[in-house]
Amino acid sequence: MNKKLLKKIFSISLASTLMFSLSACAKKGNASANASRLDTIKKSGKLVIGTSADYPPFEFHKTINGKDEIIGFDVDIAKEIAKDMNVELQIKDMKFDGLLAALDSGNVDIVMAGMTPTEKRKKSVDFSKVYYTSLQGIIVRTEDKDKFKNLDDLMGKKIGVQKSSIQEDLAKAQIKNADLKGLGKVTDLVLELKNKKVDAIVVEKPVAEAYVSKNPDMSIAQATLKPSEDNGSAIAIKKGSGELVDQINKTLDRLINEKAIDKFVTKANEQIE
Ligand code: ARG
Repeated sequence: MNKKLLKKIFSISLASTLMFSLSACAKKGNASANASRLDTIKKSGKLVIGTSADYPPFEFHKTINGKDEIIGFDVDIAKEIAKDMNVELQIKDMKFDGLLAALDSGNVDIVMAGMTPTEKRKKSVDFSKVYYTSLQGIIVRTEDKDKFKNLDDLMGKKIGVQKSSIQEDLAKAQIKNADLKGLGKVTDLVLELKNKKVDAIVVEKPVAEAYVSKNPDMSIAQATLKPSEDNGSAIAIKKGSGELVDQINKTLDRLINEKAIDKFVTKANEQIE
């Protein structure tokens, strides 16, 4: 073997060793990135959730002992998740349509907002298991209650929906010629309904029930939407955070087994004012 050939063999084997160790490194880097999202939360000592606190009994504002607080059954579940991680809970309230961007930018660790794990959303985020399911409800002014017996009665009407919600798509698909008005907060939609700027609002049924229970001037219409294929609520988590998803599902399993979620829902409904 001449010197030149030897040199070539040596450099090839060096290159392949290097390549092998580089790829091993990359793999390890990935794995530790996964582990680190949960680790980072644990190290920071707090879990930051993003929500849109306009959705009783899921999440809503209430003044308790003179202080504005965000409560609801999502918040109670979030507290249990934080407890199992041994960290504090911090809540960031924003418009529903800004939640997934906040998750993507790392402004929040997870999103808990009665969010439905749709196929479309699954392309950009991961979801925990579904922890709650419900149908849709249509809120109208009590004086109009008898006008809206079925979906055809809503034809061409002004329909309020939360921007980027599944209700926006459902209303578009099921109410003929609907004149949709999408807003960031359900509380603003309720004002629009009271001020006759919209004729109806589509939200999850328990939310519709919560709003009408404290507002005699609003009622639930007899008209109902057909249930969507995507339903239920799950927690949104940044893609590639396997350990964090497992950790959250573990807490959800515990709460489901202990039947705690039903209790949280009842408690939240009692706290609505
Ligand atoms: N479940 C619906 C969705 O995922 C609406 C959720 C609205 N949540 C809220 N906190 N406002 O699109």
